[in-house]
Amino acid sequence: MKQGTLKQTAIFTLGLKLATDPSWVNIAEMNIESILVDHAYCEQKATSSTISLIVKFSEKEDLVEQLTPIVAEEWHHFELVIAELRKRGLRFGMQRSDHYVKALRSITKMGGNRDDQLIEKLLISALIEARSCERFRLLWKYLDDQVLRDFYYEMMIAEAGHYKLYLALANLYFQTERVAYRWKELLAQEAEIMNALPPCHDRLH
Ligand SMILES: [Fe+2]
Ligand SMILES: [Fe+2]
Repeated sequence: MKQGTLKQTAIFTLGLKLATDPSWVNIAEMNIESILVDHAYCEQKATSSTISLIVKFSEKEDLVEQLTPIVAEEWHHFELVIAELRKRGLRFGMQRSDHYVKALRSITKMGGNRDDQLIEKLLISALIEARSCERFRLLWKYLDDQVLRDFYYEMMIAEAGHYKLYLALANLYFQTERVAYRWKELLAQEAEIMNALPPCHDRLH
């Protein structure tokens, strides 16, 4: 892990209330096969959930138009992660339980009307993108492997764009005050989740 730039870490959190301790990268790089496998499944889940949003809210023209290319982008990320595994002679193993996403489900407001469901889905997606982006940034900055650092730089840029898009869509369909209020609540709850999750050496989140 590269030293000397740790103090910059707290600056870039995309609104997240709890920054990841950069020493997480030390653990991650010792378990890079597991991290890449978990990352591949994150991209698969991002692809699937984007398709679900499009199908469920097919009457929302802007949403459909803007999320359709994201499906291809997330699946391309999946392909890139699989290629990294193959290049390194590593295996794409079985999916493991995603404690982070399960915990996010527990703070998602269920029920309500379609609008209530849409704002929850958009903001939860924005949260996952933000946390992924934050972790990718640490991998970019502190991994020793230059190829993987470049790889995670590209991933960080892409997921930052997705984070912005989900928030923009929330603001397109809902009043700014409503979005800001719920976003603030979710950020606080996400920080509690991150604080409570046991440190996982083999997961991206
Ligand atoms: Fe992605
Ligand atoms: Fe994404």
